[in-house]
Parts: sequence; C-alpha cells; structure tokens
Amino acid sequence: MVPQLSCDVLIIGSGAAGLSTALRLPENLNIVVVAKRELAEGNTVYAQGGISAVLDSADSLESHVADTLSAGAGLGNEAVIRRVVERGPENIRWLAELGVHFTSTPPTGDSKLHLTQEGGHSHRRVAHVADATGREMQTTLVDVVRTRKNIQLLENHIAVDLILRPSKAGGKRCVGSYLMNLESNQVMGVGSRCVVLATGGASKAYLYTSNPDVATGDGIAMAWRAGCRVSNMEFIQFHPTCLYHPNAKSFLVSEAVRGEGGHLLLADGERFMDQFDSRGELAPRDIVARAIDHEMKRLGSDCVYLDISHKSAEFIEHHFPTILERSLSLGFDMRKEPLPVVPAAHYTCGGVKVNDVGETDVAGLYAVGETAYTGLHGANRMASNSLLECLVYAQLAAEDIESKITHVSMPSDIEDWDDSRVTDADEEVVVSHNWEELRRFMWDYVGIVRSNKRLARARRRVNLLRHEVAEYYANFKVTNDLLELRNLLDVADLIIQSAQRRRESRGLHYTLDFPQVDVNQCQPTTLIPDNYRPKGQKV
Ligand code: FAD
Ligand code: SIN
Repeated sequence: MVPQLSCDVLIIGSGAAGLSTALRLPENLNIVVVAKRELAEGNTVYAQGGISAVLDSADSLESHVADTLSAGAGLGNEAVIRRVVERGPENIRWLAELGVHFTSTPPTGDSKLHLTQEGGHSHRRVAHVADATGREMQTTLVDVVRTRKNIQLLENHIAVDLILRPSKAGGKRCVGSYLMNLESNQVMGVGSRCVVLATGGASKAYLYTSNPDVATGDGIAMAWRAGCRVSNMEFIQFHPTCLYHPNAKSFLVSEAVRGEGGHLLLADGERFMDQFDSRGELAPRDIVARAIDHEMKRLGSDCVYLDISHKSAEFIEHHFPTILERSLSLGFDMRKEPLPVVPAAHYTCGGVKVNDVGETDVAGLYAVGETAYTGLHGANRMASNSLLECLVYAQLAAEDIESKITHVSMPSDIEDWDDSRVTDADEEVVVSHNWEELRRFMWDYVGIVRSNKRLARARRRVNLLRHEVAEYYANFKVTNDLLELRNLLDVADLIIQSAQRRRESRGLHYTLDFPQVDVNQCQPTTLIPDNYRPKGQKV
C-alpha cells in the first residue's frame, strides 16, 4: 500500500531534542515533526535551572568533564562526555542566535551571560533565562520551526509503533511509524527514509514526578519492541526538591535555589546536608535526594524545607520569578519563609542505546534527548547537562542523517493499520486502575531505596499487568491511555530488570541488599531484546 503520508525524516517528539534536530537538518529535506499534545508540551518547557556549558575564562572543559564523570559515579563514558562538553558553547550561541534571551550580567571576565551554579558543578557554568529557561527555549524553537516551509507539524498525534523491514545490508530498517490522530482516533501509516525518536523520558512510571503527562517512555518502549538494546534503565533520577502541596502537581523548585545559597532544613530549622556530604546542599542529586528520604523516614515527616529567605527580596524576585509566583499562589512566600519540599521522579538517565551520532541498533532509526542512552550521564545526571545533551545529539544526528540520506530510497509499501478484528474498549476503568497501580508500586518498590524483595514484588506485579494489557491491546481499538499504559509497563519492566541486574549501590541505584559500590560492576547495564538483530545480520 502507498503510505498515507511520506517524508524524508520523521521526527517523533517536539521538545528540545526533536525541534533542534528538525532545525539542524538541511531545508531541502521534507520533515514531519509529531507531538502527542500541542507542540510546546513536554519536559523541555518546564526546565528551570538552565543549560551547562563552559562560558567563563575561570572555568575549563576539563573541569566540566571531570564534574560530569564524578556525578556519574564512574559509569559515564569519558569520550562521549568530552564530545558533548566541547560542543556546549557553540550550542548556547546557536540558541542565542535563534532568539533565546539568556539572563545577562554586567561583564565579568569574558562572559556576558549570568551563570548560575547547581549541584555537582565546581564552577558557575549554567546559562539560564531567570528560572524559566525551558519556557524561553521551547517557545523560541517552536516559533522558528513554524517559519520553516520544509517542516510539517502534526500536533495531537501519538506514535503507536515503528514500521520495520528487512534491511538490504542485513538486520532491520525502520521505514516509518503508525500515528494515531487523537482528535479523529484514526491511525495512519507514515513512510519515511529515516525516523528520529525524541519522545523524552518515562518518569510518569512513578506516582510522584516533576514531569508532565506526556513523559510515558513511548520512544524507549517502541524501540525495545523494534529490537533495540536499552541501557542503564535502573538509573531514574529523583529531583530532591519538588514543592510539597496537594495542588502543586510536583512543581519543581530549581536546584539553582540551592546554587544561589538556599539551605535545606528539617522542621525544627536544623540544616542536615553537611552530615551526608562535604558539598552540603550542592552535592549531586542522588546524594541529596537520598539524604532527604532518609531524614523524612527517620523523623516520620512528610517533607523537608528549602530556605532562601536570608537573601534579599529583590534578589529572589530577580532570580526566581516563576517559583516565587507559583509558591505565592499556593500560599508560601519564599522571600519570608522556607518552602516545603519532597523528592520526585525527574529524569530517565538510561534509554535507547545509541552510537556517537545517535543511531540505534535498527538502521534508519535514531534516538536523541532523554529517550536516548548516550553514555553522558552514567549512574547520575549532573544538573543542566540534559538540555545540553539534547542540543548536541540533535546536531550530531542531523549531520549524520544529512550525510547518509541520499543513499536511502523512499519506502513505498506501508500496510494500512488493520483494526478490522478489534472492537471499542468496553471497560476504560481497567486502564486507569492499572495505571494507578503501576505508578504506586513503582514508587514504593523501585524508588529511591530498593531491595531484592521489593524489586521481586514489583516484577511480579508488572508481569501480571503486562499480560492483562497485552490481551486488552489485542482485542480492543487503541486509545491514547491504552498506548501510554502499554509503553509505561514495558519501560517499568526494563527499569526493574536493570535494577535486579545491578547487585551493588551506585549513583541513583541504591539497594539495601548491596549498599556498597562494587568496583567490578563498573559497566553500564544493557538489556538485549529477543528480536535484536545486529546491523549486517540477515533477518
Ligand atoms: P521532551 O521535551 O519531554 O519532549 C518530548 C516530546 O515527545 C513531546 O513533544 C511529546 O509530545 C512527544 N512524544 C512523546 N511520546 C510521543 C508519542 N508516542 N508520539 C508522538 N509524540 C510523542 N534539564 C536541564 O538540562 N536543565 C534544566 O534546567 C532542567 N530542568 C528541568 C525541570 C523540570 C520540571 C523537568 C521535568 C525537567 C528538567 N530538565 C532539565 C530535564 C530536561 O528538561 C529534559 O530532559 C529535556 O527537556 C528532554 O527533552 P526531550 O526533547 O528529550 O523531551
Ligand atoms: C533544576 O532547575 O533544578 C533542574 C535542573 C535539571 O534537571 O538539570
């Protein structure tokens, strides 16, 4: 069948990674960008702290590399880190040229940007737009992308699965994807010469998260089902400080608040971070989140407190206008009092295993941004290195696609989506109930502190739910919620399996059964799907 839509490059996801890839590709390519909701929605638009890059003469690439390696607890890939860090400054300039207005400071040294500080960084090196860096970045990217005639934008479309063919060179080739229009509920086949997964992370697998609803790990699950390896899925980052309030929906209180002098306090006003790490509040996130979890459990308290009220009101208003406004709307004035905070799932350090230009194990399929595992973050991502990774891998993938695409022909035989044997779902409650159950047991058993017993319990439950949802998927028409739940269950299974394999505590993975680092386990955890066919191997 002729595909219902064809393009040179299909980009699934419209956050920093997806839109930057689209803008980095040459304008003679016909590109389609797909977004599950409106174009701006995703993790990127909520980013607060900023983007790390070496922009000050007192700083150095070596220092950024060393800090990233150290935050990654021995699992970061030094060559990858170096490549990403080296491309940091040019990517900040690229964003500024597109129209991002970074917060500036009266010139100091050779840097005109105001650079803030965050955990794990030994220098001020985080370029930012007050405390709403993601909003400015995402709206700028969206504005620019809308001016490009070669880029077609499909909002409110969810990718269901990838379309594969045997590759002439052996292995498999990705030739497109099925997309469901969320307004008409129709599924169409899109054929493309190559596909880029930029679907973000999977923190919605957890009950409490800083992420918006779209973060359901769709790209990771689709790639896994297509036969791609995934790595380091046990390393789920919990951000130490989300606002604790029933109506806050895990609103983040940026690490930059601690970077600019904020203190973490217990209910009685006592500071506690120095007992856990000599870097105090600016220790890497895994350490701070675990310390908070420890203190909350020890004292049976619901939250701890983050206090920056010792700084002037003007300073707080200038640096943290978004956080101030949101917390005021919930009844807290951070200029005068500490904010109640708790940890929440924030970032997926692992993902689809890619090479140094973002290619996955399937020919013609790339993964960029939070969906991908590049080797940059190791066992714990350093603050503000994620947006940097999105930008750099978008650039690398776009360069690679440009160099290869002329040799790839347009697929012409995409079958229509067949739903002739399924009916409308009869019990939507099954989906919502299973979703709630999943997110709760992931929080309870696969959270900040794990154990063999908790992981085994979670594995049993995830297997039951996967079985139930697979049956549901086979018999009923797909809906957005069913697709997301199916993906989250696949990803939860990958997280649990990876956590069970790592029989030590390192970075973000902490287990009561193996509380120490084991120097012999200093490699990433890589899971291989049953249908994995290395490139070049006959299918
Ligand atoms: P996203 O921006 O999440 O975009 C994903 C896109 O994929 C969306 O368009 C979504 O609709 C689409 N999508 C998903 N599934 C499908 C599907 N099946 N079909 C079609 N489309 C789909 N990092 C930093 O470096 N600095 C920070 O200051 C910072 N602050 C943060 C603050 C918050 C509150 C959060 C949540 C994260 C923060 N991070 C920060 C992390 C960083 O924002 C993310 O890792 C990064 O933005 C991810 O970008 P992305 O393009 O990979 O994904
Ligand atoms: C924050 O502003 O604390 C988030 C930064 C990040 O996730 O890198």
